[in-house]
Amino acid sequence: MDTVLNILSSIPWWGWVLIVLFIIAIRDIFLQKQHTISHNFPVVGHLRYMLEKIGPELRQYLVANNREELPFNRIERGWIYASAKKENNYEGFGTDRDIYAHQHIFINNAMIPYKIEEDHPNTLDKSFIPCAKVMGAYNKRKRPYRPASIINVSAMSFGSLSAKAIESLNKGVKKANAYHNTGEGGLSPYHSYGGDVVFHFGTGYFGVRNDDGSFSMEKLVKLVQANPFIRAVEIKLSQGAKPGKGGVLPGSKITKEIANIRGVKVGKDVLSPPNHSAFSNVTEMVDFIEAIADATGLPVGIKAAIGKLEQWEELANIMKTTNKGPDFITVDGGEGGTGAAPPSFADHVSLPWVYGFSDLYKLFKNKDLTERIVFIGSGKLGFPAKAAMAFAMGADCINVAREAMMSIGCIQAQICHTNRCPSGVATQSKWLQNGIDPTLKSERLAQYFKTFRKELTEITHSAGYEHPCQFKMRDIEINVDDHNLSKELARTYMYNKTPVPFTSMKDLKECVYLGGDYNKPNP
Ligand SMILES: Cc1cc2nc3c(=O)[nH]c(=O)nc-3n(C[C@H](O)[C@H](O)[C@H](O)COP(=O)(O)O)c2cc1C
Repeated sequence: MDTVLNILSSIPWWGWVLIVLFIIAIRDIFLQKQHTISHNFPVVGHLRYMLEKIGPELRQYLVANNREELPFNRIERGWIYASAKKENNYEGFGTDRDIYAHQHIFINNAMIPYKIEEDHPNTLDKSFIPCAKVMGAYNKRKRPYRPASIINVSAMSFGSLSAKAIESLNKGVKKANAYHNTGEGGLSPYHSYGGDVVFHFGTGYFGVRNDDGSFSMEKLVKLVQANPFIRAVEIKLSQGAKPGKGGVLPGSKITKEIANIRGVKVGKDVLSPPNHSAFSNVTEMVDFIEAIADATGLPVGIKAAIGKLEQWEELANIMKTTNKGPDFITVDGGEGGTGAAPPSFADHVSLPWVYGFSDLYKLFKNKDLTERIVFIGSGKLGFPAKAAMAFAMGADCINVAREAMMSIGCIQAQICHTNRCPSGVATQSKWLQNGIDPTLKSERLAQYFKTFRKELTEITHSAGYEHPCQFKMRDIEINVDDHNLSKELARTYMYNKTPVPFTSMKDLKECVYLGGDYNKPNP
């Protein structure tokens, strides 16, 4: 024994390194069968796998230029981070963008900007921009709702995001007078810190389902009555990242808490089918919308990614003949985010936002229906200039998902589907999410929303308007080549939006349906 120990202790450190490399080589050549590269190039083959693994980080931090990355480049992320922290988000020396590039957006400024008077709501609060339309007003719902902010948190469920992230978002929307869309996972205690909530459900009917997975109106009514901060209901037909794709929530991810919130069984796989069981055609869908609106008194809308238009045409015809239908429509772009989706869906199924929205808006406009619908846009629209374009095209509000995640610390690691999100935002790991301080992060979300609204207000004033709803298609141009070819939105997408009835910001401020905390008495 002593001799063996003596021999081992006489081996120098580099000898140990050689022994370890020798063992790895033996394993690579003779014992493993999965990796051809390791077999053919023992030991050094591992370097390739290592570099492949850390390649995205190397490119993100060292190699990629400021405007190169997708879905959000460094300049865009930097603007959100700086705005959320109330840091200096300006740039010096002028733009670093190629403003002659294809698809670049130009906003036509007025010779003399809009002047705000001393008693104007924006003199007192530079970030005050409520929605110019009231959800549910046309259909005379019992509890119409005017979102008090034109930028709001898009559907992301508790389950895809951590409890701490949901809590931060809810507390943040309260501070910013915005609303928080629950996403498909039901209403959790983390959605209940007082911000306005839009209750969203998909084909799994989580939170409002019977044991057999069908929709329960009784549970929805009880939920709405018990939680008066729910201001509207959104039925998900599809989302841009994976339209028509059902899903399975694996039993291993279903904790007792998630099971209670979603109304499912602990540890048992749960199926979200591609189709709704509560309706199977457009007529039945309209009946379903009306039944929910009657039972809850709330405005009811639908969310979808756009592709074929035939069924939308059918919906418009039904709305025209019956005077019924959704109070709002959320149009999600094919560039939209998700917790997890197959790349073939995320990359290819459904149209990008500008194409999908323009097709849909045009269809409703041709039937004189745009005035009764609040149009909400989502798909990388959380930047003031892009939002101005969306308003010019007919959007009334913007929903943001990933931009909101970034404002509370997401670093675009793009591993939401692995449960290993390093920033604690999109994970159920207690350790990772414990790094999030909801008090601080809610402040960040609120500040991002306020900065966004302030900059959008300033752009609006620079174009000579008081509210972004006044943007027209001819106010925005898109570069298609040189100026002779750069086209106004109206000529590019071949429609003009219906003017939104708007009197003044003062009237919006005094509206009895205004959400957020503006109209609530001080505690
Ligand atoms: C983590 C995550 C979870 C999401 N969950 C849902 C969901 O439950 N229901 C839904 O309709 N959309 C969901 N979405 C899509 C977003 O609500 C949004 O429509 C899309 O990401 C586009 O907005 P963005 O570009 O601002 O991220 C999710 C997106 C992300 C990133």
